[in-house]
Amino acid sequence: MRKLVVYGESGKRYPVFLGRYLLNRDDWLGEVEFPSSQGVIITNSRVGPLYEEIVSSFFSQRGFTIQVVTIADGEEYKNLSTIEFIYNQLLSWGLDRKSFLLALGGGVITDITGFVASTFLRGITYFSIPTTLLAQVDSSIGGKTGINLPQGKNLVGTFYPPQGVFIDISLLRTLPAREYEEGLAEVAKTFFLAGGEALSLLEEKERILSRGEDLLEEIIFQSLSFKKRVVEEDEKEKGLRSILNYGHTIGHALERVEGYGRLRHGEAVALGMMGEAILGEKLGITPSKVVEKQREILIGLHLPTQLRDNIEREEFFAALRQDKKKEGGKPRLVFLEDFGQPIWGVEVEEEKIGEALSYLER
Ligand SMILES: NC(=O)c1ccc[n+]([C@@H]2O[C@H](COP(=O)([O-])OP(=O)(O)OC[C@H]3O[C@@H](n4cnc5c(N)ncnc54)[C@H](O)[C@@H]3O)[C@@H](O)[C@H]2O)c1
Repeated sequence: MRKLVVYGESGKRYPVFLGRYLLNRDDWLGEVEFPSSQGVIITNSRVGPLYEEIVSSFFSQRGFTIQVVTIADGEEYKNLSTIEFIYNQLLSWGLDRKSFLLALGGGVITDITGFVASTFLRGITYFSIPTTLLAQVDSSIGGKTGINLPQGKNLVGTFYPPQGVFIDISLLRTLPAREYEEGLAEVAKTFFLAGGEALSLLEEKERILSRGEDLLEEIIFQSLSFKKRVVEEDEKEKGLRSILNYGHTIGHALERVEGYGRLRHGEAVALGMMGEAILGEKLGITPSKVVEKQREILIGLHLPTQLRDNIEREEFFAALRQDKKKEGGKPRLVFLEDFGQPIWGVEVEEEKIGEALSYLER
């Protein structure tokens, strides 16, 4: 088992445990501060039947009282109605400020649980048991919580770190290939930003795709270590943290135009990274060898680098305008001067982004 400790700006710190079969052992439990013995698992209709029983009995056997809220599965449920449904459940059980929440699921569940925890009774403790690769390498640390509005993704949210994160790699065995591969998009993004030796881990594409767990543990550890360094320096995204949005400006707009569900988040991020790399090349920032290497790695990880259909430009620009990372009306993007050398906050005209998009179309 490996352990990282993430420090927040407010001085708050939380442990992240990483390993296999964490729920078959409890040597890590003593290092975690639970505010009381009253906890509620927040999960969904797909992950719940797989793991909720294991998690509840783990805690019940150790003296905790655990209840479960199960919500519908899907990004489309990351909304205000779901939040209200969860508040109502928690109130009906008479939970107090010492109760805690346990997120059991992918990024949708960890984002929702963090949001509920940060607002319910003005803030209660929560922990995460992320069950997708994306959530294990990315959304489980850094403290961003959020929900979607009809106008766009993650438009409402808070910065509210968990009190502990338990990453069990064995939970990934039931994750379908498409969801696993889209998690690899966030891994690739992290390693493009980190550069150096981490990047060479991505060369082992066969072992990555067959989920070799030793390699996976190393990859998750390296991804988290990089993200930890970034969020510790800039938790509230005033500067450096925005590098983690590499591929996300174009990616989020594509995800919105294509419709959530049709193009999954990780796939949109892979396409977004390709679009932004090509745009960087056109602007004279990103060398063409970096663009080509990036394409080769993404293809090797079974990620899309070209769009299936052409994109309606007006819809795309409308989606782009919903993005939060812009000032003075112009989108601000992250570009790679090289692997390991990102620059951020680069203002780009919308038309230029539209031009880059045409290189992703067949
Ligand atoms: N807060 C952050 O810093 C941050 C960062 C990146 C992404 N996100 C958010 O994360 C969300 C995407 O997360 P995701 O890709 O994990 O999607 P997801 O939570 O929708 O999970 C993908 C699918 O896999 C299922 N699933 C999860 N774990 C499983 C398992 N072990 N076995 C079988 N099925 C399993 C889920 O039920 C779902 O159907 C987006 O809403 C995005 O905005 C947040």
